[in-house]
Amino acid sequence: MAHYLVTGGAGFIGSTIVDELRRRKEKVSVLDNYLTGQRENLDDARDKITIFEADIRNLESIRACFAGVDYVVHLAALPSVPRSVADPITSNAVNVDGTLNVLVAARDARVKRVVFSGSSSVYGDNPTLPRVETHCPQPLSPYALTKLAGEYYCQVFHCLYGLETVVLRYFNIFGPRQDPDSPYTGVLSIFTAAYLRRQTPTIFGDGEQSRDFTYVENAVEATLQACVAPHAAGKTINVGAGGHQTLNETIRLFNKIFGYDVRPQYAPPREGDVKHSFADISRAREWLDYHPRVGFEEGLRKTIEWHRSLNTG
Ligand code: UD1
Repeated sequence: MAHYLVTGGAGFIGSTIVDELRRRKEKVSVLDNYLTGQRENLDDARDKITIFEADIRNLESIRACFAGVDYVVHLAALPSVPRSVADPITSNAVNVDGTLNVLVAARDARVKRVVFSGSSSVYGDNPTLPRVETHCPQPLSPYALTKLAGEYYCQVFHCLYGLETVVLRYFNIFGPRQDPDSPYTGVLSIFTAAYLRRQTPTIFGDGEQSRDFTYVENAVEATLQACVAPHAAGKTINVGAGGHQTLNETIRLFNKIFGYDVRPQYAPPREGDVKHSFADISRAREWLDYHPRVGFEEGLRKTIEWHRSLNTG
């Protein structure tokens, strides 16, 4: 049994990782300050894990969480491009200073490896598609820049201190537990909530922007592989589904699934928004033996079911 510390473990991706680790009978600790994470995401696991309520912006308050830990899955972050445009200082404090603190604490506690949740946003509008890890980053938003800084810190800690780090560039992860009530949540969560409430979804821009929407179970699989894969240390690896949908296409799929036609309203594009995003996942296949199992439509149906269960249960 290995000991995993999941920072941001009360969040959408983090709590899904906690549940999978529990299913695999691993020892689990969670570090979260519940700024964006939800206590109820840990309801099933609560009695069987250790939960530290602390803030990664305060190094001394988090050191104790790392004692005896083998693997750190570092997901604690402030997501959202528009949030970072509105308040770059806080995004930087959590995502950059916080990540540095996690790396220092992990180094000092001699953990075996840290897996960092990077982001596809670092590619920005680099015109070459699909995105390959060797492409030059072109961050367009403070959020993207914070995630790129986190990557570089991971690499420096690997080279300088010998701390094993793996950077995963997540591509638009979606699924159950992605907060339906936050204005900064992912677009598929927003659209699902709109359909269930019979409200008109808003598309920012012409709807022809595309994303490699990746179901959360696929990301969990890749992340846990990254903790133990022998050749992953020091690497930066895309975690996507390897496909892409435009927002207009997703609306057509929503219409099919819900069985009625909705016409979205269109609004000006968001500042800092990327036009196209689509992952080359060759490295993930090679180094993580990663094969996304849940396709886009299947994942979307599961996500919608979860939203429905919230409304009925
Ligand atoms: C970005 C990253 C993603 C990261 C996420 C964290 C890219 C390509 N992706 O996601 O990897 O996990 O930040 O927050 O940078 N939109 C609408 N209507 C809405 C809401 C959003 O049209 O009501 C549009 C946005 O303008 C955007 C697309 O939907 O074009 C996706 O937005 P969102 O789900 O917020 O994710 P990204 O910003 O793409």
